[in-house]
Amino acid sequence: MIKIAFYDAKPYDIPAFEKYGKERGIEFKFFESHLNPDTAHLAKGYDGVCAFVNDIITKEVIDILYSYNIKLIALRCAGFNNVDIKSAFGKIHVYRVPAYSPYAVAEHAMALLLTSNRRIHKAYIRTRDYNFSLNELTGVDLYNKTMGVIGTGKIGKVFINICKGFGMNVIAYDKYPDKNLDIEYVELDELFKRSDFISLHCPLTDENKHMINQESIKLMKKGVGIINTSRGGLINGEDLLRGIKERKIGFACLDVYEEEGDLFYEDKSGHILDDDTLRSLISMPNVIITSHQAFLTKEALSNIADTTTQNILNYFKGEVSDNEICYHCANIENCKKKRNLKCF
Ligand code: NAI
Repeated sequence: MIKIAFYDAKPYDIPAFEKYGKERGIEFKFFESHLNPDTAHLAKGYDGVCAFVNDIITKEVIDILYSYNIKLIALRCAGFNNVDIKSAFGKIHVYRVPAYSPYAVAEHAMALLLTSNRRIHKAYIRTRDYNFSLNELTGVDLYNKTMGVIGTGKIGKVFINICKGFGMNVIAYDKYPDKNLDIEYVELDELFKRSDFISLHCPLTDENKHMINQESIKLMKKGVGIINTSRGGLINGEDLLRGIKERKIGFACLDVYEEEGDLFYEDKSGHILDDDTLRSLISMPNVIITSHQAFLTKEALSNIADTTTQNILNYFKGEVSDNEICYHCANIENCKKKRNLKCF
C-alpha cells in the first residue's frame, strides 16, 4: 500500500480520493491543515504528500519533507506557482493535474461575467426582501462587445467558444499563440485598449505578476469589466481598487486573490479581516468575489482524483509521465520529458 499524507483536505475532496485510492492501492491520510513548515512533520512515515493551491511549498518545507524521505509531491491542481520547483529538483518529484475540466473554470468565468453585468447578485437579494425595483440593475448586451482573453490554453479556448456563442468579438493575447486557433491575436497593450471585458486564463509567472496594474488599467476603456479565474497575483489588488474607486473599472469578478492563502476555502464569518484591500473590494457593489471555486464541479473533482492517483502510481512504478514538472520544463531544450526521461 502506498501511503500519502493529504493536506488541506475538504469534505468534497475525500469521496473521490477514497474511491480511486482503494482501486489503486493508495492509502490517504486526510489532514485539514495546510502544508507549511509547522505541519510538514505530519508527513513523517508517509511515501508522499498530496497538496493543493494554497499549500505554500517553500524550500524550507521541501527540506523538511526530504529529511523524512518523502519522494513525491502530488499536486491536485494545474498551477504550480505555489511550489519552489527549483528547490525540489533533485530531491522530490513534483506532479500536477494539468487538466481536469477546462469547462468548469471557463463556465464559472462566464457565470461571473453574466452575474456582474446583469446585477443578478443584487436582484437576488432585492426580491428576497420583496424589493422589485429595477433601479441600478441595468447591464449591457454582451452581443457585439469585445472580450479580450489573456491565455489561450485549455481554459482560454473553452472560454473563447462560450463568448463566441454569445456573439461577442473575441481578441486574444498569448505569449505562445496557437497558430491553429481561429482568433485575432493582438499585443497586450492593444488588448487592454480595445476590450470591453478582459478575462485572464494564463498561469502566474515571475514575468506576468501584476500584469493588471496602474499602467495597464490606464490603457483600458472606461467601464471595462475584469474577470480573473486564474491566479490572484496577476492583478495588483490595490491598483484594481483604485481603478474601481476612480470609476475607470466598471466591474471586477475575482475567483482568486493574491493574498487568498489563509482565507479562501475557510469559513471566516465572524472574524475581522485584516486585509484592508480585500475588505474594500468586497464592500464594492460592482465586485464579485468567489473563493477559488471555479474548478468545483463533480466532473472536475472526479478527474482530479483519477489523475492524481494515476500520477502517484506512475511515480512508484518508475514510469515516465507528462504530468511530472520541474524547472526545466519551460525550456524545451532542457526538458527531459521530451526525450522520454524522468525529470531527474
Ligand atoms: P494551459 O497551460 O492550457 O494554458 C495557459 C496558456 O497561457 C498557454 O496557452 C500559455 O501559452 C499561456 N501563457 C503562458 N504564459 C503567459 C503569459 N505570460 N502571458 C500570456 N499567456 C501566457 O492552462 P489552463 O489549463 O488553460 O489554465 C490556465 C490557468 O487557470 C492555470 O494556470 C491556473 O492558474 C488557472 N486555473 C484556475 C482554476 C480555478 O479554480 N480558479 C482551476 C484551474 C486552473
